[in-house]
Amino acid sequence: MHTGIRERELTWAEFTEEVLPEARTLATDASAAGIERYLGVLAASASRVDPASIARPQFSAYPGYPDDVGFALSHRGSPFLGVQFWIEPGAFLPFHPHPGGSVCTLFLEGAARVSNFEFAEPMDALDWEKKGDVLVRRTREQLLHPGDINLVANPRDNIHGFRAGPKGARGIDITTGNRPENRHGDSLLEIAGAPRDATLGVFEAHWRDS
Ligand SMILES: [Fe+2]
Repeated sequence: MHTGIRERELTWAEFTEEVLPEARTLATDASAAGIERYLGVLAASASRVDPASIARPQFSAYPGYPDDVGFALSHRGSPFLGVQFWIEPGAFLPFHPHPGGSVCTLFLEGAARVSNFEFAEPMDALDWEKKGDVLVRRTREQLLHPGDINLVANPRDNIHGFRAGPKGARGIDITTGNRPENRHGDSLLEIAGAPRDATLGVFEAHWRDS
């Protein structure tokens, strides 16, 4: 009898083999709709991956990020990289955007609450040099358990940040430079705790010095 729990039939290696041909084709379309299609294909396959097939690596601190968050490159390829992250229990992986592309997060271990935001104005209208204050809109909030997926599209949901649960949080970010010409240096965002407009989820934010 089917229990209703989705079967996890793919290893990470089988996932990459299955998804790469179509992913390579779809990654050539850098339009907003093209990136959504690309992520949809990644997510459909990634949701069938057994989290236990992805080994826990040695994590390292990353410049500008807090010490209780670690990263490890665990898949190097084209069109995507696989970057694992580990967040200590209760710690926060700060909000940051991905202007140069997209992310499909496959959650692996523990629990986390992820929030996605998007910029209230077009990303190419932002001053990435002077920075200053910006307005963002909260688009998504999701509780992640192993096997769950969260997507960072472009421009939709382009900003994400994670709060780890009491046993910490590990995931793998399937990261693609769909728009490498729009890439900017790593920048963290501080987002106000209360919205300016609760109905539309508009928040004030400012860039963190790092
Ligand atoms: Fe990210």
